[in-house]
Amino acid sequence: MEDKYGRKINYLRVSLIDRCNLRCRYCMPKEGIIKRPYNELLRFEDILKIIKAAAHLGINKIRYTGGEPLIVKDIDYLIEETAKIQGVSDLAITTNGTLLYDLADKLKSVGLKRVNISLDTLKRDKFNYITRGGNIDTVLKSIEKCLSIGLTPVKINVVLIKGFNDEEVVDFIRITKDLPIEIRFIELMPIGQGEKLYKTSYLSSENVLKIIKNTFELVPQKTHSGSTVSLYKVDNYRGNIGFISPMSCKFCKNCNRIRLTSVGNLKPCLHSDKVINLKSCLNNAELLTENLKQGILSKPLQHNMDSKNKSESNKMMYQIGG
Ligand code: 5AD
Ligand code: SF4
Repeated sequence: MEDKYGRKINYLRVSLIDRCNLRCRYCMPKEGIIKRPYNELLRFEDILKIIKAAAHLGINKIRYTGGEPLIVKDIDYLIEETAKIQGVSDLAITTNGTLLYDLADKLKSVGLKRVNISLDTLKRDKFNYITRGGNIDTVLKSIEKCLSIGLTPVKINVVLIKGFNDEEVVDFIRITKDLPIEIRFIELMPIGQGEKLYKTSYLSSENVLKIIKNTFELVPQKTHSGSTVSLYKVDNYRGNIGFISPMSCKFCKNCNRIRLTSVGNLKPCLHSDKVINLKSCLNNAELLTENLKQGILSKPLQHNMDSKNKSESNKMMYQIGG
């Protein structure tokens, strides 16, 4: 359905869990998080109920995120049941990729359409540093696996961090020469753990484009409506290069999404603290639909994170899932 500003809202992002097996410096505190008891999380049947109601309102695209969605037990069952819901035509996950190698075949066979994998560096030691202990091989072999079984398009999320990965931008683009991968450079946002790093290490898409243009000629590509990415390609390369610029170039006017947190709150905007509790109305189909509608209608026109250099959401990225 349309929101108050005429935007067609067809995309629901569902955070399944706020735990993660990595500790990326811009996302998680070093000591980890206070673990929510599992019984506070929505159960699969609750999530499916919400998605069914949302599908009736025109939501056709579902993405599971976290934290890390692949640490959720029996996620293949959830994906399978989600794929069966009438009206859901696109089903994706955003994952750190570390556990995907063993799960990819199964998830594809039950209806997962595609994956976004977070990878901020191509260097082993830097990966270990930024994730506080992760092993890059676990991610690289998952990417290869997805390509080999056709769980595509594979999109790789690279959060831009000045002094950390700006020198690797060109290496990331080279990957798109022979592989049908979309590399998406994402501007660091001052949200949660990212707030401190933002002050010293924010890098705008525009500056990165300048670096890239020294080496490559980028050809702009068309994107579908609701897309938050500016897409480019190097001529004759197989993959694409995307820029997601939440800070420097607001894409709020194209926003097509709402979010569901792992404890059952609907978030109309990533950067607002306003939520609508859906957990309390799971047994009342009419009220559930009404609350979903209210969620869509209460989407703000835009965030104003850029004027304050701070998100108005007190939630952390691992609780919302990006
Ligand atoms: N700014 C930008 N991107 C972030 N992510 C997590 N925290 C931040 C932040 N502060 C990214 C992850 C993942 C996606 C879901 O969000 O790297 O790719
Ligand atoms: Fe985990 Fe993703 Fe956060 Fe890294 S950015 S700690 S992989 S949820």
